[in-house]
Amino acid sequence: MSEWSIDSWQKKPILQQPTYKDQALLKDVEGKLASYPPLVFAEETRQLYKQLGDVSQGKGFLLQGGDCAESFNEFNAPKIRDTFKVILQMAIVMTFAGRCPVTKVARMAGQYAKPRSADTETIGGITLPSYRGDIINSFEFTPEAREPDPTRLLDAYHRSASTLNLLRAFAQGGLADLHQVNRWNMAFLENNPLKERYQDIANRIEDTLAFMQVIGVNSQNTASLHETSLFTSHEALLLNYEQALTRIDTLTGKPYNCSAHMLWIGERTRQLDHAHVEFFSGINNPIGVKVGPGMQEDELIRLIDALNPQNIPGRLTLITRMGADKLADNLPRLLRRVKAEGRHVVWSSDPMHGNTIKASSGYKTRNFDAILTEIKHFFQAHAAEGTHAGGIHLEMTGQHVTECTGGAYQISDDDLAQAYQTQCDPRLNADQVLEMAFLVADHLKK
Ligand code: PEP
Ligand code: CO
Repeated sequence: MSEWSIDSWQKKPILQQPTYKDQALLKDVEGKLASYPPLVFAEETRQLYKQLGDVSQGKGFLLQGGDCAESFNEFNAPKIRDTFKVILQMAIVMTFAGRCPVTKVARMAGQYAKPRSADTETIGGITLPSYRGDIINSFEFTPEAREPDPTRLLDAYHRSASTLNLLRAFAQGGLADLHQVNRWNMAFLENNPLKERYQDIANRIEDTLAFMQVIGVNSQNTASLHETSLFTSHEALLLNYEQALTRIDTLTGKPYNCSAHMLWIGERTRQLDHAHVEFFSGINNPIGVKVGPGMQEDELIRLIDALNPQNIPGRLTLITRMGADKLADNLPRLLRRVKAEGRHVVWSSDPMHGNTIKASSGYKTRNFDAILTEIKHFFQAHAAEGTHAGGIHLEMTGQHVTECTGGAYQISDDDLAQAYQTQCDPRLNADQVLEMAFLVADHLKK
């Protein structure tokens, strides 16, 4: 094997990258990015690493979620705030019911590049390059919009910086106060058809906070009641961008990707001898890799060894995305093998990407019950194999969109048109995702 370097991935085959016409402009942009400040600090990623190490040992749960693709047009404070709020609302329910710490990781502040199943898209006899995420091209179906534009890399960087800035302010500045978060949950339950079922947990959290207040533990004297930590993550698809933001940490002298705390490799780009695995093998962040139903046991062990040769707990999260109908046939054999070989990983469930369907109305959608079934089978498989169901990875938003069918408000195929806003995959809305949190909490309790 040849030595890893920051650009050694460039000698390997690579999939899912755009072709830029203006190479001189691209080089100029990459140079600028490489000179800009990092977005996160390596020491922060080590805190996440440690937390995930605990999760891999069964002492915690990972909650990861956000947009399928962040959008340049939908770049505003309410949108960031609403998703932040709903992640916190989910986390408090899971922490309380599951009696275990929940590590919160947002698919935000950099989730701009998308792998696509086809390079081109044809509408009405016209064929154009596929939309690949706002960091590459634009969603509108015109030749100009679909042309990959290098300056979008800079726009993505600046938007990521602003998003991260606001997330940090929310996390430290008082919006994350647990009293506040539980009040939001109470409000969520107020009109919800499932109120009966979930009121109990919310009431018990309220009582616990009230009790702590009486004995003198309050937001003024206890930081953990008043502030929180939220890490960021995205699929590190566009390797020239990721390379430009990879820096040598001054404290350890090691390379860290400073575009986010955690990065993952998608299902379509995880080939062992390809560029993404090469790049990821040399960065020192906690990393993830998507695992679909076709993954073979030997292949998985080789992938684990390529990405985490020293078998350090917390380094690697396997994000399984099997599909509700395929999980029971495919996850147990992988759990068994990884356990038998003593590899330390966090097992997380992405119940979204294996359950995408086309509605009769033509919209790409996912059904709440299918998502739930995959989660249920995920917990069952881990219980049966004696492994830890360590996390969940969701495409979700704090906004009231109609993109996934089902849930307490029973969104139907016909309702999808009301507020279908995603530029890529369908997301659970605020109500659906909170309902999901209460259901996951039930599993965690067991
Ligand atoms: C995604 O997480 O948005 C994605 C494309 O997932 P996968 O690589 O699992 O298809
Ligand atoms: Co997606």
